[in-house]
Order: sequence, then C-alpha cells, then structure tokens
Amino acid sequence: MTSSISSPAAHPKRVLVVHYSQTGQLSSVAGQIVAPLAADPGISVHVEVLRPAAEFPFPWPFLRFFDAFPESAHMKPAPLAPLSLTGEEDFDLVILPYQVWFLAPSQPVVAFLKHPVAARLLRGKPVVTVIACRNMWLLAHEKLKGLLDAVGARLIDNVVFTDPGPTLATFFTTPAWLIWGRKRGFWGMPDAGLNAAQIEGSARFGRALRDALHEDRERGAGPLLAGLGAVRADARLLISEKAGTRSFFLWGKLIMAAGRPGAWQRKPLLVLYVLFLLALIVTVVPVSLTLQALLRPLFKGWLTRMTAHFECPSGSAVDRVPLYDD
Ligand SMILES: Cc1cc2nc3c(=O)[nH]c(=O)nc-3n(C[C@H](O)[C@H](O)[C@H](O)COP(=O)(O)O)c2cc1C
Repeated sequence: MTSSISSPAAHPKRVLVVHYSQTGQLSSVAGQIVAPLAADPGISVHVEVLRPAAEFPFPWPFLRFFDAFPESAHMKPAPLAPLSLTGEEDFDLVILPYQVWFLAPSQPVVAFLKHPVAARLLRGKPVVTVIACRNMWLLAHEKLKGLLDAVGARLIDNVVFTDPGPTLATFFTTPAWLIWGRKRGFWGMPDAGLNAAQIEGSARFGRALRDALHEDRERGAGPLLAGLGAVRADARLLISEKAGTRSFFLWGKLIMAAGRPGAWQRKPLLVLYVLFLLALIVTVVPVSLTLQALLRPLFKGWLTRMTAHFECPSGSAVDRVPLYDD
C-alpha cells in the first residue's frame, strides 16, 4: 500500500494512520478500521506506510530472525527510509497500529516514534493504538506508552487482536509462519495469525471513530472505543513476559557488544541464546501458568488489578458492539 490522502470536505477532520506490516496482517486490520473513515466526506485520512531503509526479510531466515531481538528489545531500531510527512501537518487524530517484536513494539514503529518528525506531529494529539500480535503484548504496550509520553501524545484508546490459537500451539505455529512462511496449521494445531472474522470485525472500531470524530469527542480525555470489546488482557502471561524481557535485555546487551546486526561474531551467541530461550519457553511459561492456576486464590487480587491496568483505557466491555457490528 502506498501513502494516500482521501478527498476532504470543507473542514474535514484529519486523521493520520501510521503503520508497517510484513505479511499484510496488520495492514488488513488497519484497512478495515480506516475504510469507514476514508469513505466519509467529512474526514480526510493520510496513511503513512513505514519503510525501513533496509527491508526486513519475510519469511525470516532462522538466525536473521533471532538477530533482530537485541535491537528490538533495547528499542534501538534500524532506520527508516524518508517519510512523506514533514512534521508541519496538523492532524485531529492519530491511529497507530503496531505489532510486537520480542516483547517490544516492532522496530519500524519504534523508529517512527523516535523520529523528530513524529515528535512534531504527535505533541498533544490523541492517539489510538491497535495491536495485532501472537499474544504477548503487555510489556510492549508499556514501552509504547513511554514512547508516546516522551513526545507528549495522549493515548486515548488501545485495541488488541491476538492469535486465537492456544498459547502453547502458537509457540510452534507462529515461528513456522515467520521463519518458513507456513501459515496453515499442522499436527492438529490451528492456522497461525488472526482469523478472517477478527479482521473483518475490526471495522466496528472505524465506524465508532467516525461517529466520535463527528461529535468532536477526540478532543476529550475519555476513550472513543469503550464498550466495543477492544481488549482482553491475559495478565497471567505477565510473569512469562517479565522473565522473557529480562533475558532479552541481558543477552541483547551481550550480543550487541559482539557486533552490529548481521555480524558473524553474533552468530555463536545467538545459537546459544536460542537454546536458552527454548529451555525458558518449555520451563518458565508452563511452570508459571501452572503455579498461577494452583495459587489462583492468592493471585486473584493482583490478577484483577493487572487486568484492569492493561485493559485501560478502552476496556473489554461489549455493550456497544451491536451498534457498530454492521
Ligand atoms: C521478529 C518478530 C518478533 C516477534 N515477537 C513477538 C512477540 O514477542 N510477541 C507476540 O505476541 N508476537 C510476536 N511476533 C508476531 C508479530 O507480532 C505479528 O503477529 C506477526 O509478525 C505478523 O505481523 P505483520 O502484520 O507484520 O505481518 C513477532 C514477529 C516478528 C517478525
């Protein structure tokens, strides 16, 4: 998809959509959300598709995939090709779909948020984030919130789509998709990625945003997408995410000290790390999920607080879905 501006009316509301997608999954979600806005004569939409200066491969060669983790985890992204925006543009609302890479926002999205143009564009602006990832997004979103805070943007909504397959199955099906390009499920496991109903259903958020823009509600502090089933947080994954983030950070530091991305000196360390990561996945994730299931009564208050925190601001309520579900 290339950048485009839809035909504005006399005083249209201006919406900026910034995104990046490798398989097209996140572009499809973004496309569904943008369609009702772009079709409205009172709204003009600018879509900025992020392009890394050197494209990331898809599917990813095995070690190349893991070679991306140190810079992803440390949020030291590869640079972008020049943007079509100058920073002088003025938008009423910004929609920022992003995917998670190694428990952090993907490198192209981090590169955008650290770009001087983004600082000018986003200051004081209401931002709606849209996540589509396997299912571990909690700490990536904390990092993204920090980046938005740093440029003075106002996060008013967060919508999250996660792969519908069971967590354990997606540990196999997602790498098969990303590294071998195989999206179809195998060994009785479901297909990798979102399903068609999730992608089509995302249009309800675009319809709700369209109505909110007509009522100037983006100027207020409250969410525009409450009651639409925007996000269900699984706080039980937080412990695994914290263990993963810590190991990405420490090993990432070591690997970055060995050389730049692609350097041969990083490869032996990466192989060692992959083995360590496999051990972590088959031990920490099931052990922490089992312990939490056994100790649920003790964890209940904490889980409820964490769930509420991560579902903020848009929430998991679904009372307005019938209004916008076509
Ligand atoms: C390098 C890399 C690392 C990823 N790490 C995570 C992760 O930590 N958590 C997660 O839920 N999904 C992770 N994913 C899956 C992505 O969030 C996303 O679902 C997938 O890449 C498809 O997105 P696309 O729209 O770019 O094609 C990762 C994908 C890539 C390419």
